Amino acid sequence: MSQSVHIHDVPETFKKRALIGSHRYDEMYARSLKDPTGFWGEHGMRIDWIKPFTRVKDTSFAPGAVSIAWFQDGTTNVSLNCIDRHLAERGDKVAILWEGDDPKDSRRITYRELHAEVCRFANVLKAQGVAKGDRVTIYMPMIPEAAFAMLACARIGAMHSVVFGGFSPDALAGRITGCDSRVVVTADEALRGGRIVPLKKNVDAAIEKAGTVERVVVVKRTGADVAMVAGRDAYYHDLAAEVGADCPAEEMEAEAPLFILYTSGSTGQPKGVLHTTAGYLVYAAMTHQYVFDLHDDDVYWCTADVGWVTGHSYIVYGPLANGATTLMFEGVPNYPSVSRLWEVVDKHKVTILYTAPTAIRALMGAGDEPVRRTSRASLRLLGSVGEPINPEAWEWYHRVVGEGRCPIVDTWWQTETGGILISPLPGATRLKPGSATRPFFGVRPEIVDAEAKVLEGACEGNLVIADSWPGQMRTVYGDHKRFEETYFSAYPGKYFTGDGCRRDADGYHWITGRVDDVINVSGHRMGTAEVESALVAHDTVSEAAVVGYPHDVKGQGIYAYVTLMAGVEPTEGLRKQLVAHVRQEIGPIASPDVIQFAPGLPKTRSGKIMRRILRKIAENELGALGDTSTLADPSVVDDLVANRR
Ligand code: WTA
Repeated sequence: MSQSVHIHDVPETFKKRALIGSHRYDEMYARSLKDPTGFWGEHGMRIDWIKPFTRVKDTSFAPGAVSIAWFQDGTTNVSLNCIDRHLAERGDKVAILWEGDDPKDSRRITYRELHAEVCRFANVLKAQGVAKGDRVTIYMPMIPEAAFAMLACARIGAMHSVVFGGFSPDALAGRITGCDSRVVVTADEALRGGRIVPLKKNVDAAIEKAGTVERVVVVKRTGADVAMVAGRDAYYHDLAAEVGADCPAEEMEAEAPLFILYTSGSTGQPKGVLHTTAGYLVYAAMTHQYVFDLHDDDVYWCTADVGWVTGHSYIVYGPLANGATTLMFEGVPNYPSVSRLWEVVDKHKVTILYTAPTAIRALMGAGDEPVRRTSRASLRLLGSVGEPINPEAWEWYHRVVGEGRCPIVDTWWQTETGGILISPLPGATRLKPGSATRPFFGVRPEIVDAEAKVLEGACEGNLVIADSWPGQMRTVYGDHKRFEETYFSAYPGKYFTGDGCRRDADGYHWITGRVDDVINVSGHRMGTAEVESALVAHDTVSEAAVVGYPHDVKGQGIYAYVTLMAGVEPTEGLRKQLVAHVRQEIGPIASPDVIQFAPGLPKTRSGKIMRRILRKIAENELGALGDTSTLADPSVVDDLVANRR
């Protein structure tokens, strides 16, 4: 991290109009820690309740007895809060502003229309036999129907599990069986950057592996002629024609599950992160309002996909709970040209843009001209999420995209946290490029060393959170033990984030990246273990070890060391085959950038692979390999170094 940090003050325009100024931040933050029950009791009232809560916080991080409940005795419904309660005052306001892959395609859906669409979708699901507590897998393009389907599940009390449309049939199958879904909602095809993704075909292939699916609801996106299995598959529009546009919302307990979202960890297969109803919604809505300094006339755009948590909390639930206009984008930043994001900003007069460092770096690489030829006069605030943003990219985003006028909120959080935990508030926080700055209300970050000692002042170590917040995940679906082991065993009594962090003398947080075997490729989280198991599944591979290495655009790239079965020739052709194989097993986002054939991997005498050494070689830090004398066969390291790619 650079020593001379360029500090950006809060702009005057923000000081005047911001929801939270710096004094208010200090005061509210202090109170939120001192009196969490009072604080959250008040802010829990930001959503509408069917039966108001009397209990606020029932949480424990105690070893062996982790349990998390917020607003426990209240009842509500998320879709009532995201739709119905806005109808009286905002019925004609645009709720979802959709921009298609083709710049000629857009749709505006008002809150009133959203109500009708979601009710209809809910009735279709009910007609397929979906009931309270059931799991519905949603594998969709970025079209409004994806949001309708999510909200329809919420309306009838079913849990959704959205699977990113870029995942392969195998990955989809694992996520269907993981939560035992009987119903899948998909589309004929997706369209991204002018290219077709055969979603329905992928679903068919997934169902061959996952036997649980009884019904597939297919939304028409491209109108392609796709295979339909009689008795199992039906087009959404046909089903919708048979149901009414009114559907009462189920009364849900505050802690009723809202959704499952699979995410990668350092070991094993992806975990089903479970979020529940009220605490999640309160937290998503409140962070969305304050971090983005949301005003009623904002046009807010988050470029994430609904297949990731950012799409859940900051395209769908947070913005809609706040009655905002949320833009949903089907396409990609470089189609039809690298000016696309800025053209969309101008077309829809976007005021708040929330995107990922990988996109910023890629667009920065295309130069200033594609940005400067657009106006962007409507923009007032910029956001970043998904991975650390390097100060160069931050400054470019600020100077070129925002023309020096827009603060940048660098928001740190995770699938598990439900919403943003560390971020500037644009009217309150002076910005340091590359720092996610200060904690949100109610969040108690601590930095600990390997011995679990809490470090004070300026320091660097592992990031833990000392107490619960309402948006926190409640469990790993169906496996509470795994939840406790993954997040609460490294530092008993605290939630371990898996991230490293430096805190400076001003109390600002600088996330340094994952400290476990999770890598972050273009903001997509991936377990090295998943890529390894995909590689080992190939006939020619006997062993594989995968590590991340610094990549200019993606943040991290995937470097795979592969040991082949005896007698298999390490050819260029095989290398290509292995890359294709991983794409097929997981999806294109998991494609290894580098495959190095290695006759042996560095192992300790007890057989454990020493990843530290593999990381250093991948990073080309050959002088920093450290002590290799404990290896069973130190000579393998020489071969790895000599054949580095
Ligand atoms: C990383 C995405 C630095 C981090 C919301 C975290 C970040 C993981 C930032 C979670 C940020 C996310 N600065 N690192 N602003 N935001 N990360 O679950 O390593 O897909 O643990 O959630 O992304 O990724 P996930």
